[in-house]
Amino acid sequence: MRTQVAIIGAGPAGLMLAQLLHSKGIESVILESRTRAEIEETIRAGVLEQGTADLMRELGVADRMNRLGQVHDGIEFRFHRKGHRINLKELTGGKRVTIYAQHEVLKDLISARIATGGEILFDVGDVRLLDVDTELPRVQFRRHKDGELEELVCDFIAGCDGFHGPSRQHIPQRVRTEYSEVFPMSWLGILAEAPPSSPELIYAHHDRGFALVSTRSPEIQRIYLQVDAHDDLANWSDDRIWSELHRRLETDDGWTLIEGPIIQKSIVGMRSFVCDPMQYGRLFLAGDAAHIVPPTGAKGLNLAVSDVVVLAKGIETYYKQGNAEWLQAYSEICLRRVWKAERFSNYMTSLLHRHANHSPFQRRIQLAELDYVTSSPVGLASIAENYVGLPIDWRRS
Ligand code: APR
Ligand code: PHB
Repeated sequence: MRTQVAIIGAGPAGLMLAQLLHSKGIESVILESRTRAEIEETIRAGVLEQGTADLMRELGVADRMNRLGQVHDGIEFRFHRKGHRINLKELTGGKRVTIYAQHEVLKDLISARIATGGEILFDVGDVRLLDVDTELPRVQFRRHKDGELEELVCDFIAGCDGFHGPSRQHIPQRVRTEYSEVFPMSWLGILAEAPPSSPELIYAHHDRGFALVSTRSPEIQRIYLQVDAHDDLANWSDDRIWSELHRRLETDDGWTLIEGPIIQKSIVGMRSFVCDPMQYGRLFLAGDAAHIVPPTGAKGLNLAVSDVVVLAKGIETYYKQGNAEWLQAYSEICLRRVWKAERFSNYMTSLLHRHANHSPFQRRIQLAELDYVTSSPVGLASIAENYVGLPIDWRRS
């Protein structure tokens, strides 16, 4: 088999890249190790930055998002039993976020891929990258895991295979630096059959730990609470979850958390990770294959999308103008935005969570910071600008 771009992984990065390339008349093949059903059922985050939602519309894959996604003009920071609204729209000159689950984005991108006749192989096995530092890299794989070994010859490989995928290991260790931090806490996330308790997301700071009220639809709420890093779901009965959420989210103005049957619960760890560079020869990493953020700023999917916007421009310039300058600058342009998102996600995480080793002094500093960012025009603007998504900075050195 021969194609222009071999894409490994059908997550947000791989699927969005395929759609971008298709819109520019560039051919690709997606190789994915999971089944379509698994991908479409995995529950992840659900906040789309303004730029991500705009791109969905530009690419013509936004029909369901426009119907089912919820556009939010603001978010709330809650501390000391009181809510403080951050008006994203006013503070950013009209930008907003769209709450629309990641697996819904994936369903839309997969059906668009199939509708355009683009090649996408699910359930493949033994994916191996070969000759990534030559002009004709190859990917070997087996269809349906037990099939014959096949070979895909291409001009470029996009490693969109997530944190555990094989692509990153093909950047030799001598040229690769990995930065990583694991946080001493986790999030327990639930889906509950109940109408929204709040019209906008609530990020709550509390002595007992962080809580976050999000939404999925008029009938389903998505809620998270901070738990210990190595906590076990078995320790968390539904009753305990609700009683903890009530305590962490309680206000003086009579706000109430609406309960409902919990239909899904899981615990996710929190880590930061960056691989520098994100490219080697004809291999380009995008999304979680190159970087991870803790979920507090909801940046994971959005970073995957901005990476592939940069990559698609580089590949297009290569084919249409015969120059590789934008491709050479891929890592530099992406990492500038990645590090700013890492900064924001780390900042939000340290601002809002309870840290077991915090002294009373550090705790008061945290509250002073919350007071500052929710009352100063500069503090508010900074949170809002980062939350709706920073623009891609296209400068090249
Ligand atoms: N061969 C083929 N596909 C692979 C392989 C492999 N060896 N290893 C992993 N994959 C697939 C995974 O099954 C997954 O579907 O690559 C895909 C990677 O998708 P994601 O992990 O979603 O990563 P990405 O597309 O970068 O999106 C980042 O999605 O997972 C969230 O929290 C993450 O929000 C972030 C965003
Ligand atoms: C979610 O709705 O899943 C969500 C929202 C905001 C976050 C993280 C996750 O910061």
